[in-house]
Amino acid sequence: MLHGEVQVPGAKNSVLKLMAATLLAEGEFRLTNVPNIADVRTMCELLEALGMSTQRLDAHELLLINTGNITPIAPFELVDRIRASINLLGPLLGKYGHVDIAMPGGDDFGSRPIDLHVAGLEAMGAIFDLTRDGVKATATHLHGAQITLKFPSVGATENILMAAVLADGVTVIDNAAREPEIGDLCNMLNNMGANIAGVGTAKLTITGVTPSTLHAVTHEVVNDRVQAATYIAAVAVTGGDVFVRGARAEHMEMLLNRYAEMGVSITPQSDGLRVVATDRLRSIDFATLPYPGIATDYKPLLVGMLSIASGTGIATENLYPGRFRYVDELQKLGADIRIDGHHAVIRGVEQLVGASVNAPDIRAGAALVVAGLVASGETVINDTHHIDRGYDDLVGKLAALGGLVTRRS
Ligand code: EPU
Repeated sequence: MLHGEVQVPGAKNSVLKLMAATLLAEGEFRLTNVPNIADVRTMCELLEALGMSTQRLDAHELLLINTGNITPIAPFELVDRIRASINLLGPLLGKYGHVDIAMPGGDDFGSRPIDLHVAGLEAMGAIFDLTRDGVKATATHLHGAQITLKFPSVGATENILMAAVLADGVTVIDNAAREPEIGDLCNMLNNMGANIAGVGTAKLTITGVTPSTLHAVTHEVVNDRVQAATYIAAVAVTGGDVFVRGARAEHMEMLLNRYAEMGVSITPQSDGLRVVATDRLRSIDFATLPYPGIATDYKPLLVGMLSIASGTGIATENLYPGRFRYVDELQKLGADIRIDGHHAVIRGVEQLVGASVNAPDIRAGAALVVAGLVASGETVINDTHHIDRGYDDLVGKLAALGGLVTRRS
């Protein structure tokens, strides 16, 4: 049983993009509510390699200084570590007219193309030279364009948006991704002097401004809905009563409805959610979808929960067909899961049993930690560096709630 209060930190998938956006204007940027995670450290190294300077003012505050002395060539070794390095593309092209970057790394969910990024930026006048290993692009004159994304890609929306801020004329992104982290980026860009209308909707209209209009700002990073979902899942499987401070119900409405269907009681209070779980979870079926649907990042948590729920549930993955690698690991804990194409059929068992498992990526790693809390005996999770990329002291926070979890290294 977990009891007490846990604080949700800022979102990885927002802060990394906000950091990329600091390339667009000279001056001193201050980001607050920054999660203390490995990906932020990697992004700091990347920005420094490009010519910026960065400094942690405290565990959750970051100073980024852009003196304008930027070389838009990103080193392979750093780009290979995080997917969000692709987010350098838009601001570097928009501000410096040139970019030379390796193909980004990050979690391996199978193929992760960038055709939508490229098509959008080409429509604005960029010229690409794509090879198997990297992306080179130039743009002597970026201009506004009408861009309809065939899929609401988070990364493509962000790159086109950041390039459009300084482009000549009006850019319209239709079928734009609507994740709260994109709203956060739009808000920071507007405070910097950009002109973006339609924030939070699927149609973003960006009227280009001159470089001298943009200035550095102080910005508070939006809270992390996936980390919030992780703490709720932990209470759901172990039982207990926890206040998840900083969890924002309006950013995770569909997920909260599904948690409620599974039997978790979640009550919005000022600045957070009270989560109470007393009974065995009930199975549900769910499918991942772009926001406001159930995020693919929540799926490993939900599959872990279904593993011990009463009845049978079906999980359908619509974003990354290869994102089922953690199922083998849950099976080592005794979960009864069968994969059929992009569906997983999960028959709930009474009890998971501790074993040694490997974290294949950030979210799956966190889901294994949650499963380990409720498995009998000892569960050892290896490859925890994946979890450290996106979670700010997951072990310490769960232990403070009464979870029996420690770090060995
Ligand atoms: N896609 C294309 N072409 C493109 C871009 C995307 O076909 O040019 C497809 C992808 O293959 C995928 C789908 O569109 O099937 C979604 O990709 P999207 O571009 O929306 O995702 P992303 O920007 O690469 C971000 C998060 C992921 C999260 C996804 C979906 C970051 C750094 N990453 O990735 O987060 O799963 O959106 O919500 O923001 C994580 O945090 O652990 C993580 C993997």
